[in-house]
Amino acid sequence: MRLCMIGTGYVGLVSGTCFADIGHTVYCVDKNEEVINKLNSGKSSIYEPGLNELIKKNHRSKRLFFTSNISYALNKSDIIFICVGTPSKKNSLSVDLSYVFKAAKEISKFAKKKKIIVTKSTVPIGTGDQIEKILKNKKKFIVISNPEFLREGEAIRDFRYPDRIIVGSNENKSFKTIKSLYLPLINKGAKYFSTNRRGAELIKYASNAFLATKITFINEIANLCEKTGINIEDISLGMGSDVRIGSRFLRAGPAYGGSCFPKDTKGLISIADKEKVDLSLVKSVIKSNEKRKKLLLDKVHTIIGKNIKNKNIVFLGVTFKPNTDDMRDSPSLGMIPYFHKKGANITYYDPTGAKYEFVKLKNCKFYNQINLACKNADLIILHTEWDEFKSLDFNKIVKNKKFILYDLRNLYLPKEMKRKKINYFSIGR
Ligand SMILES: NC(=O)c1ccc[n+]([C@@H]2O[C@H](COP(=O)([O-])OP(=O)(O)OC[C@H]3O[C@@H](n4cnc5c(N)ncnc54)[C@H](O)[C@@H]3O)[C@@H](O)[C@H]2O)c1
Repeated sequence: MRLCMIGTGYVGLVSGTCFADIGHTVYCVDKNEEVINKLNSGKSSIYEPGLNELIKKNHRSKRLFFTSNISYALNKSDIIFICVGTPSKKNSLSVDLSYVFKAAKEISKFAKKKKIIVTKSTVPIGTGDQIEKILKNKKKFIVISNPEFLREGEAIRDFRYPDRIIVGSNENKSFKTIKSLYLPLINKGAKYFSTNRRGAELIKYASNAFLATKITFINEIANLCEKTGINIEDISLGMGSDVRIGSRFLRAGPAYGGSCFPKDTKGLISIADKEKVDLSLVKSVIKSNEKRKKLLLDKVHTIIGKNIKNKNIVFLGVTFKPNTDDMRDSPSLGMIPYFHKKGANITYYDPTGAKYEFVKLKNCKFYNQINLACKNADLIILHTEWDEFKSLDFNKIVKNKKFILYDLRNLYLPKEMKRKKINYFSIGR
C-alpha cells in the first residue's frame, strides 16, 4: 500500500519507517525543511535506537521517501496518517489541535482522489468528527482513528510487536483496509481491536492517564517508605508480582514527564470538564505530580543545605527517559534552572549531547564524558536511567571525596554505596 505520514517527528518517522520496512511505500512529509533535508541526507532527525539503519535501508530500497511537498506526498498515497503534535495550549489544560486541523485543511485542498485519513496523533474525543467537517468533499474521505502507543527509546520494537492495534471507525468497510495494512504484525501475534472512532480516541487518553496514575501512586508510596524505613523496591516487587497489578510503571522516581503523560492527563481533564464529568482521580494525579517536583527540590536542599551558591551540581542524563533525545517536560527542565538561579554551578552529561534548553544558563556546562562532568562534583544527581550510568566507579571519577550521590532511579544498592563510603541518597529507601 502507499502511505503518507503528515508529520515526521517521533511518531511519524518511526511508524513511517517501520511501515516501509514491512513492505509498504511510504511518503513522510514535514513542514520543517531542516528535518527533511537531514533525512534525505541519510541521517535520522531524532535519536531512537536502530532507526538510522532502518531509514537508510528503506530509503535505499525506494520504499521510504521524505519531502516537504505535501501535495506530492498526498497524491502519491492511498492512506494518509496525521502524525502532527498535539501539545497543551499555553496556560491551559486543553489540547492545541491547530496542527491537526491545519493538516486536515491541507488534505482537503490538495488531495485529488478518494483517501482514507487516519489520525495517529493523540486527539480528544470528537476530533475525527471535526476533521470530517473540515474535509469539504466528504464522500472523498473516510476518517479513522488509529492511536499510537509506541514508547520513545523502544519505538521500533513497539511498532513490530505492539501489545495491541486499535482502530476506530464509524464506517465498516475501512476496517478491512487498515487491518490488511497491519497484517504482517497481526500474523505475528499482535492483538487487533476495532471500535468506533470516538472509542479509539478515548482509549489512548485513558491508557496514558492510567499509566501516569500508576507512577504517581508508587511515588507517593515511596514517600511513605522514606519515613518508615521500608525499601520501595520490595514494595514494587511485592505488589507487581500480582498479575492484576503488574510490575511495569511501578518504579518510583522523579515526577513523570515526557512528551505524552503531562499533556495527555491535562487533555483528558479538559475533555471531561467540557462534558461536565469530574475526573477527580486524574486531577489529583496531576496535582501530586506537580507537588513531587517541589518535593525533590526540597530533598536536594535537605541533602546539601539551603545555601547552594557555588556548589557543583552534576546531572547524569537530562532527558525524561533513556534511549531518547526528547526533552519535552523532562524533570531536569525544572531542576536545572532552579539550582542555577540559586547560584549553583551545573555540569551535565547526556549521551544524546548538549541541550539548547540550557544554552542561556551562564553557569551550566555540558561535558561529553561522564568523568569530566563529575570530576569536581559536590552533588551528582542521577537523573536518567541510561545503561552507561549503571556501574560507575564514582570514587574513581570524582575528585572531591565528600561528594554526595542522589540516585533518582535507584540504580545502585544502598548497602554497596555504604561499603564504598559514598554519601548516597535514593528514592523511597
Ligand atoms: N512521542 C511519543 O512517544 C508519542 C507516542 C504516542 C503518541 N504520540 C502522539 O503522536 C503525535 C505526534 O507526536 P510526536 O512526538 O511525533 O510529535 P513531534 O513534535 O515529534 O512531531 C510532529 C511533527 O509534525 C510536523 N508538522 C506539524 N504540522 C505539520 C503539517 N501541517 N505538515 C507537515 N508536518 C507538520 C512538525 O514539524 C514535527 O516535525 C502527538 O499527538 C503525540 O501525543 C506521541
